[in-house]
This record gives sequence, structure tokens and C-alpha cells, in this order.
Amino acid sequence: MKICIIGTGYVGLVSGTCFADLGNDVICVDKDKHKIENLKIGKIPIFEPGLEELIVKNLKIKTLKFSTDINRSIKDSNIIFICVGTPTDKKNKNANLKYVYQVAQSIKKNINKYKIIVTKSTVPITTGDKIEKILNSKKNKNKFDVVSNPEFLREGEAIRDFCYPDRVVVGTNSKKANKILKSLYIPLVKKDSRYINTSRRGAEIIKYASNAFLATKISYINELANLCEKTSVDVKEVSLGMGLDQRIGERFLRAGPAYGGSCFPKDTKSLIYTADKVKINLSIVKSVVKFNEQRKKLPINKIHKILGKRLKNKKITFLGVTFKAGTDDMRESPSINVIPYLSKKNAEIRYYEPTGYKDAFKKLKNVKFFDKIKDACNLSDLIIIHTDWNEFKQLNFKKLVNKKIIKIFDMRNLYSIKKMKNNNIKYFSIGR
Ligand code: UGA
Repeated sequence: MKICIIGTGYVGLVSGTCFADLGNDVICVDKDKHKIENLKIGKIPIFEPGLEELIVKNLKIKTLKFSTDINRSIKDSNIIFICVGTPTDKKNKNANLKYVYQVAQSIKKNINKYKIIVTKSTVPITTGDKIEKILNSKKNKNKFDVVSNPEFLREGEAIRDFCYPDRVVVGTNSKKANKILKSLYIPLVKKDSRYINTSRRGAEIIKYASNAFLATKISYINELANLCEKTSVDVKEVSLGMGLDQRIGERFLRAGPAYGGSCFPKDTKSLIYTADKVKINLSIVKSVVKFNEQRKKLPINKIHKILGKRLKNKKITFLGVTFKAGTDDMRESPSINVIPYLSKKNAEIRYYEPTGYKDAFKKLKNVKFFDKIKDACNLSDLIIIHTDWNEFKQLNFKKLVNKKIIKIFDMRNLYSIKKMKNNNIKYFSIGR
């Protein structure tokens, strides 16, 4: 099938590459010339395990191409995926659809034969209706269908999530479009996942409802972690005991800092906005957003509890600074709040991060990047395990820190309290 992917951000790049790997003829388009030139030689702008290799492989066999020529690419394709960004609007907190509608205008001019226009970007309910309105004209009559096909990829696990999806949701009332998209997804659907055909608006809501539910699940266990901490119970036991009930499920029950990333914070707010507009009060999602905002203060409060009020000249080491493991993404990462605060308090901040130096801290004083865990930890007053990268799971802190008194704040509950106690390490974690 001839596929055009518009927008080579995270969603577009992963989907385009994986569709190409399934043997389709894929062209990925972006207006960023520099990005496209790099992609043409297999250089990718994001850190995503396995993606670069897959791009290089498909560039070689020419199933995957990159271009800045949006008009030609649309004309040459049967299916067009809109994968541009929908960032949160600063004013109203809803998703900003400027880029989506700009793309719709470009598509409108280039419909030369029947095409399926698919929104893969996360878009609020009724966006599909609006795109359809933009595309409608005498010339384009019966020449297109607008479909919602949300993606459920996680950063850091995207290739696996694409190849082995729990479900593929295709929102359209058009039998023709559904048949074509089903044949596109059949190689994945065969692998035990479910292909669901819903209404277009239904698919749009499913995406938001899923992310808001996962954000709720995390906030639920985070709130219980607060109770566990006060009652000397280990929240990990609670997660285990709850999660084994299949109606609840064990995934996304890990207590930690406020959830971050580009999706949960953005999508929960956008869902609330949409509901408010039709006078529906999503009170549960509202409390989740509020609770998560409050939770952003947790790391700073803990650091003061461990090191006291004065942080001046205290050597504080961060192991990882990204919002989660497997990604170089810093959006809504707890470190974005905590490190500037510590810098203002004149602490001496060091960080080690597997995906390298981060521009986010460039302008802050007393913040230094180390490319070796050992150097970052040496003689530190406090080690903060910020991100749950595998390489932080079995460290010998006694060798790394070289101090009599070792203090660790484990924001991801990676270590056993008992082992830490036996090693005489002052160990603080979350909900335990
Ligand atoms: C999320 C969804 O999981 C994907 O299904 C969805 O496609 C994607 O958003 C999107 O809308 O594009 P992602 O943002 O990559 O994916 O990250 P997650 O793995 O879901 O983690 C989000 C946040 O929740 C992170 O801050 C993570 O540390 C936190 N989290 C996750 C927990 O605190 N506890 C958990 O048990 C799981």
C-alpha cells in the first residue's frame, strides 16, 4: 500500500517505519528540512531503542523514504496519516490543532483519487468532523474518507507496542476505508491482538479515555503510597496484592513521583476541557490532575527531610533525569522542577543520564553532567535515583560513594529496604 505519513515526530516516525517494515511503500514528510536530510541518511532526532536500525534497513530496501514535498507525497499515496503535534494550548489547556488543520488544507489541494485520511495524532472528539469539513468540496466529492486511528505506543517500547498491539482501533463508518485499513493492519492483528471498528468520535474518545484511566491508576497507587508511608506498609506489597486480581491488573501500579511525559499531562487536561465544553464534569480526572500537580512537590519535600533546611554546597547526584527509562524525553520530568530549585538553593548538583547531557539545565549554576555513574556518585551527600533505567538496579553504592554515611532517595523503589539496612545505608523511597 502507498502510505504518506505527515509529521516525523515520535508517532509519525515509529508508525511510518513499522508500516514500511511490513512491506508497504511509505513516504514520511516533514517541513523541517534539516530533520529530513538527517533522516535520509539514517540519523534520527529521538532516542528510541531499535528505531534507527529499522529506519536504516528500510531506507536500504527503499520501502521507506523521506521528503519535504508534502504536495507530491499526498498525490502519490492512498492512505495519509496525520501525525503532527497537538501540544497543550497555554491559554485554554486544550490540544492546539493548528498543525492538524494546516495539514488538512494541504490534503484538500492534493486529492487526485480516492484517499483515506487518518488522524493518528491525539485529537479531541469531533476533530475528524472538522477535518472532513475542510476537505469537502465539489472536486473532492466521494474521493476521501476521514478516519480516526489513535496510537497507543509508549516511548521506549514503541517498536514492540506497534508490532504487538493489544488492540488496533479504527474509527470510521465507511466500509471501504475500514476494509482497506484492516488489510493494512492484518499482519499485526493476526498476532493475537484485536482489530476494533468503532465510530470516528468513539475512537477519538478511546484514546483520551485510555490515557486518563492509566493516569488515574498511577495516581491512585501514588495516593495510597502516601497512606502506606504513614502506616509503615510497603506500597509494593499493596501493588502486588491488588494487581494479581485480573480485574485490576498489575501494570501501571508502580508508585513514584508525579507522572510525566508528553501524553498523560496533556491528554487529561484536554479531556477535561472537552467535557467541560459540553457541561460534563469529569470530577475523577479533575482530581487526578490536581493530585498530580501537588505531587510535583514531593521530591523537594523529601530532599529537605533527608538533608535538612540548608542545601548550600550539598553534593546531590541524580541518576537519570528523563521522565522515565528508555527515552531521552525531558517533558514534564520531575527533574525539570527539582534541579532548578536545588540550584537556587546553592546545592552542588551532578547528574548521570544514559542518554547524555541535557540542554534543559544548561543555564543553571552548579549543575554538572557526568558520563560515568562512579564519577557522578563519588563523595555525594545524597544520591537520587530519579529514573528507572535498568543500569541503576544493581549498583554497589558503598563502592560508588566512598563515604561513611551514604544517603539514597530512591524515587522508583528499585531497592530492597532490608538489603539497604543491612548495608548500613540511609535509604528513603516512596510509599514504604
Ligand atoms: C503513554 C501511554 O502509556 C501510551 O499507551 C500512549 O500511546 C502514550 O502515552 C501517548 O499518548 O502517546 P508514555 O507517555 O510513553 O505512554 O509513557 P508511560 O510509560 O505511559 O509513562 C507515563 C508516566 O507514568 C511516566 O512518568 C511514568 O514514570 C509513570 N508511571 C507509569 C508510573 O509512575 N507508574 C507506573 O506504574 C507506570
